[in-house]
Amino acid sequence: MSFDRSLKIAPSILAADFANFGAEIQAVEAQGADWIHVDVMDGHFVPNITFGPATCAAIRPHIRTVMDVHLMIAPVDPYIDAFAAAGADFITAHVEAGPHIHRTLQAIRGAGCKAGVALNPGTLAEAVAPLLDMVDMVCVMTVNPGFGGQKFIHACVDKVRTLRSLIGDREIHIEIDGGVDPATAPLVRDAGADVLVAGSAVFRGGSVSDPSPYGANIRAIRAAVTA
Ligand code: DX5
Ligand code: ZN
Repeated sequence: MSFDRSLKIAPSILAADFANFGAEIQAVEAQGADWIHVDVMDGHFVPNITFGPATCAAIRPHIRTVMDVHLMIAPVDPYIDAFAAAGADFITAHVEAGPHIHRTLQAIRGAGCKAGVALNPGTLAEAVAPLLDMVDMVCVMTVNPGFGGQKFIHACVDKVRTLRSLIGDREIHIEIDGGVDPATAPLVRDAGADVLVAGSAVFRGGSVSDPSPYGANIRAIRAAVTA
């Protein structure tokens, strides 16, 4: 996987049909998704529960692009090997998930995955400054993690700008997660983001039997950014 800062749309399967992940992933990739974003929640770090490594392993064969696993769990370290074995390309852990994020990121790379670090809306960009030489991606949460379909928090856009300048020439993706749609996508792209996660804004209006709205929704986000 070579590095570039071109725009990548990463639909979150949190907004897909949970009884039909394989077909949903195939449909959204056929409709133009660049990556597949996989939200893992534990009911402890965040107030919602989704699924774990067994589900990730089951959906892996259906993903032809990039499997981007976002861990909203604490603790993280005991589960890294299981998510790596499930076939994750990227594993992202939250800087707020525990006192030893440095060790966690070492373990993610040690397990053979690309390492991401995520920041909640209440955390400063500077929190990841000491970690920038050991990550492949920084994920800026633009909602409080736990649920899809929430309102984009505009105060987070300046954080993206700060992060972009902290990153400098390093080959680190900036991912935006939460409330991304054609209205908010240009704001974060201008601020320096390259990976845009979108759940409800991609999956709304479509289904496995009628997937063309997925494509129209993805194109609408791309068009808004390039306009
Ligand atoms: C929120 C998740 C997001 C979420 C985004 O905790 O990490 O990935 O699915 O959903 P939308 O795009 O609907 O805000
Ligand atoms: Zn996410």
